[in-house]
Amino acid sequence: MVSTSSEPASTADSRQYLPPTDSTADLSPNQLLLPLTATVTADHHLSVGGCDVVDLVERFGTPLYILDDHTLRTACRQYRQGFERYYPGQALVLYASKAWSCLAVCAIVTDEGLGIDVVSAGELLTATEAGAAPANIYFHGNNKSFEELTLAVEVGCRVVVDNWLELKTLGEIASREGKTVPILLRVTPGIECHTHEYIRTGHLDSKFGFDPDQIESVFEFLAGQPQLHCLGVHAHIGSQIFELNPHTDLGGVMAQWMVTAQRYGLTLSELDVGGGLGIRYTEGDDPPSIDTWVKTVCDSVVAACQAEGIPLPRLLCEPGRSLVGPACVTAYRVGSQKVIPGLRTYAAIDGGMSDNPRPITYQSVYRALVANRMAAPLAETVTLAGKHCESGDILIKDAPLPELKSGDVVTIAGTGAYNYSMASNYNRVPRPAAVLVAEGDASLILRRETVADLLRQDCLPEALRPRAKST
Ligand code: LLP
Repeated sequence: MVSTSSEPASTADSRQYLPPTDSTADLSPNQLLLPLTATVTADHHLSVGGCDVVDLVERFGTPLYILDDHTLRTACRQYRQGFERYYPGQALVLYASKAWSCLAVCAIVTDEGLGIDVVSAGELLTATEAGAAPANIYFHGNNKSFEELTLAVEVGCRVVVDNWLELKTLGEIASREGKTVPILLRVTPGIECHTHEYIRTGHLDSKFGFDPDQIESVFEFLAGQPQLHCLGVHAHIGSQIFELNPHTDLGGVMAQWMVTAQRYGLTLSELDVGGGLGIRYTEGDDPPSIDTWVKTVCDSVVAACQAEGIPLPRLLCEPGRSLVGPACVTAYRVGSQKVIPGLRTYAAIDGGMSDNPRPITYQSVYRALVANRMAAPLAETVTLAGKHCESGDILIKDAPLPELKSGDVVTIAGTGAYNYSMASNYNRVPRPAAVLVAEGDASLILRRETVADLLRQDCLPEALRPRAKST
């Protein structure tokens, strides 16, 4: 579930950070979700990917997304190895690129043998430009435009069809182009799970996918559309989910759809169970491991197919957050502070809801530390405020932190997913830069936007141009 608690972490142990231990049971109350390579340098700076965070912000500025190559690759391997163990030889893990779509992230996951789930022409072209093979790209979305569908057919990716309009439009495009288009059908499984209502998608009252009641008429229609090759079915139940039960149930529901397809002469060979595994943003979060999630999914599909007496399909899943979320931290500089005696201390950082809209959108809770003074003990409860003109622009309410000074490098953990990808230019604030860190090297992967970049998109009609002052 999405953390909504605003309770400060216990300050019984006043250290900001304890090195990770092997057992998650040993995690300290103030242990943060940091990338796997996080350490503290001899001069008490946070280091990620062998790079001192203080050096990084001096070189690249703030706010700065710092993406750890090793953590991202490790998560990719955990998914792949899990499927190799529980569903050998027949699975494909797709990275849900909506979590963070950019060339470098897509290139890393492609290098790790993952496919990519895209939901727009922008994400599709980012995936192809990064080197993903068209057959490993799955195009989702509940309102793909005619142009996007045409592009999908040209590129040769798979299309996860969401509704009747799309099915008919795609059929027409495929006939016109003389191509056979491989598709999956997205169906709403009617499975409830506990997460924020905005990111819950599996229940029947959802804007996504065919209603299960429509599935027979869709199969009947498809039986007469040879230009649409229906490979299988897709379902996604929601995001930031800690429970395993919804995925235990999903295999059974989806296997039924495969049996129904057989009645219409369609043999489905792919089953895509979506993404959704949650991550640990705070010490109160306790998600299952990637291995446990993969095992649950595989066990459920194997049991359901055996019960129905159907061959095992190729199994796909589409994690986003659990791949890229824990791999990134965002570093900010502290600016002004406002102390309201007896009420609250606000410390403003030089970013906010424009680079991380999750707290204001979903009441998500994050943890922070002071990267330039890692030995400083937790001393006060500070509310980290963003710089935007909106009272709700608070990144962390009542964060346990050392006493802050202007210029401190506050770093927020677990920001890899749905931060850059949902960033905005609210208040005409340019989007931050991002760097990839690996074994002591830092490479720029997203240039910092400038105000000139933003103004470049503006057009000022002739009549509105400032007139040359008459002298
Ligand atoms: N597949 C489909 C069809 C999806 O809609 C999503 C996420 C995923 C896969 C990946 O789910 P994940 O493994 O990342 O949970 N902006 C929200 C999350 C929205 C998720 C949308 N769909 C947030 O910041 O929490």
